Amino acid sequence: MSPYVLFLLFTIILQVKALRSPIEIENFTRTLINGFTPSNSPTPLPIEPPNSPSSSPLVPALFVLGDSSVDCGTNNYLGTFAHADLLPYGRDFDTHIPTGRFSNGRIPVDYLALRLGLPFVPAFLAQAGGVQDMIHGVNYASAGAGIIFSSGSELGQHISLTQQMQQVADTFQQFTINLGEAAATDLISKSVFYLSIGSNDYIHYYLRNVSRVQTLYLPWSFNQLLVTTVKQELKNLYNANVRRMVVMGLAPIGCAPHYLWQYNSKNGECVKEINDMVMEFNFAMRYMVQQLGQELPNLSITFCDVYEASMDIMRKREQYGFEVTTDACCGFGPYNGWILCLSPEMACTNASNHLWWDQFHPTDAVNSILADNVWSAQHMNMCYPLNLRDMVKPNGEQPDAE
Ligand SMILES: *[C@@H]1O[C@H](CO)[C@@H](O)[C@H](O)[C@H]1NC(C)=O
Ligand SMILES: *[C@@H]1O[C@H](CO)[C@@H](O)[C@H](O)[C@H]1NC(C)=O
Ligand SMILES: *[C@@H]1O[C@H](CO)[C@@H](O)[C@H](O)[C@H]1NC(C)=O
Ligand SMILES: *[C@@H]1O[C@H](CO)[C@@H](O)[C@H](O)[C@H]1NC(C)=O
Repeated sequence: MSPYVLFLLFTIILQVKALRSPIEIENFTRTLINGFTPSNSPTPLPIEPPNSPSSSPLVPALFVLGDSSVDCGTNNYLGTFAHADLLPYGRDFDTHIPTGRFSNGRIPVDYLALRLGLPFVPAFLAQAGGVQDMIHGVNYASAGAGIIFSSGSELGQHISLTQQMQQVADTFQQFTINLGEAAATDLISKSVFYLSIGSNDYIHYYLRNVSRVQTLYLPWSFNQLLVTTVKQELKNLYNANVRRMVVMGLAPIGCAPHYLWQYNSKNGECVKEINDMVMEFNFAMRYMVQQLGQELPNLSITFCDVYEASMDIMRKREQYGFEVTTDACCGFGPYNGWILCLSPEMACTNASNHLWWDQFHPTDAVNSILADNVWSAQHMNMCYPLNLRDMVKPNGEQPDAE
C-alpha cells in the first residue's frame, strides 16, 4: 500500500472520530444572537457596532455556495485531504474547537450572518434535513470544489458547484413540501445567496495543467469558460426564484504562501503571472454580474472584488495592524508554504497580526475586514454596484443595477 493511501485512510479515520454534533454549535449561536460577543481575535480597526442581532433578522436566510473560503464543515463528512477538523484550525473561533472552517477563527459568512441578524449557517451535510434546520439558511460550500467538475479531484472527495446546486434544489423542494409554494417562494426570493468559488480551478486545475488544459486554453479563454459556467448556475438560481445574490471574486492567490514557496519568491513578492489570471477572472466575473443584473428583472446582484480589497490590506498593513503579510501563521518551510498546517505546534502564537493562516487561507482578522467591506464598504468599496447592507435595506426600493 502506498504512503498516499495509508495517509488517506488515516485521515478518514480521524475525521469520523472528529464528527461533532451540529446541535452544539447551533445552541451556541443562539446564545450568541441573544447577547452578541465579539470574536476572540482582536480586530485591528474599530468596527461598527453590529446591528443588535435580533428577533427580526433583515432577511429570512443566508445560503452559501463555494469552496474552502466559506466551507463550514461539509468536508468533515468526506474522505479528502482538504479538511480542517483538527486543531489548530478553529482555535480562535467562538467555540475554540475546529469546525471544518479553514481559518483560525470565523469565515466571512459568519460575520455576515450576524450582520443580517441570523445564526451561523449550518453545513448542508451537518443537518438532518428537517426544514427547521435549514430555515435560516444552509451552507453547501466544500473545500477543494471548483467551477469545473473535476477541479480538486486529486485531494479526494468534494461537493462540486454542480452538486451543490443539486443540494440547493433539494432544499427548495423540502421548503415547498413543508411550507407550501407561496411561503417557500417568499423565503427564497427574500434570502441572500452568497457564492465564493473559482480558486481551485486555478490551484488544482489550470496551474497544474490537468488534462493539458494550458495547451487547450489560454488564461483568457479559460476565464471565459469559468465565467460562462457560473452565469448559467446563477440563471438557474434565478429561475428557482432567487433574487438576491452576492458573487465573490478571487483573492490574490499569487501572494499565498504556497506559491511564494513554490515560485521561490524573493522578499515575499507575489507571483505576477498567477495574480494576472486572478485579475482577469475578477474582471470577467464583474462584467458578467453587471450584465446579469440588467438582463434579469428584479434581480439584485453584486460582485465583490476580493483581490482589490486584499491588496488594500497589504498596502496599508500597518494601519490594519498586520505585521506578517507573507508567511502563513501555520505551516512549514519557506513562508510556511511548503507543508500543510497539520498540528498546533506548527502555528504562530498570534494569528491576528498575520494575513495568512495557512498556505492558502486568510486569518480571521482578514475575514473580518473583508466581511465589513462586503457589508458596508467600511474600509474600502469592494462590491459593485452595491453593498450587502443596501441590498437588504428594509422597506427600501431595490436599487437598480445601474
Ligand atoms: C441545546 O439546547 C436545548 C434547549 O436549550 C437543550 O435541551 C439541549 O440539551 C442542548 N443541546 C446541546 C447539545 O447542548
Ligand atoms: C501542459 O501539458 C502538456 C502535456 O503534458 C504539455 O505538452 C504542455 O507543454 C504543458 N503546458 C505547459 C504550459 O506547461
Ligand atoms: C418584479 O417585481 C414586481 C413587483 O414586486 C412584480 O410585480 C413582477 O411580477 C416581478 N417580475 C418578475 C419577472 O419577477
Ligand atoms: C496580536 O496582534 C494584534 C494585532 O497586531 C495585537 O493588537 C495584539 O495585541 C497581539 N496580541 C498579543 C497577545 O500579542
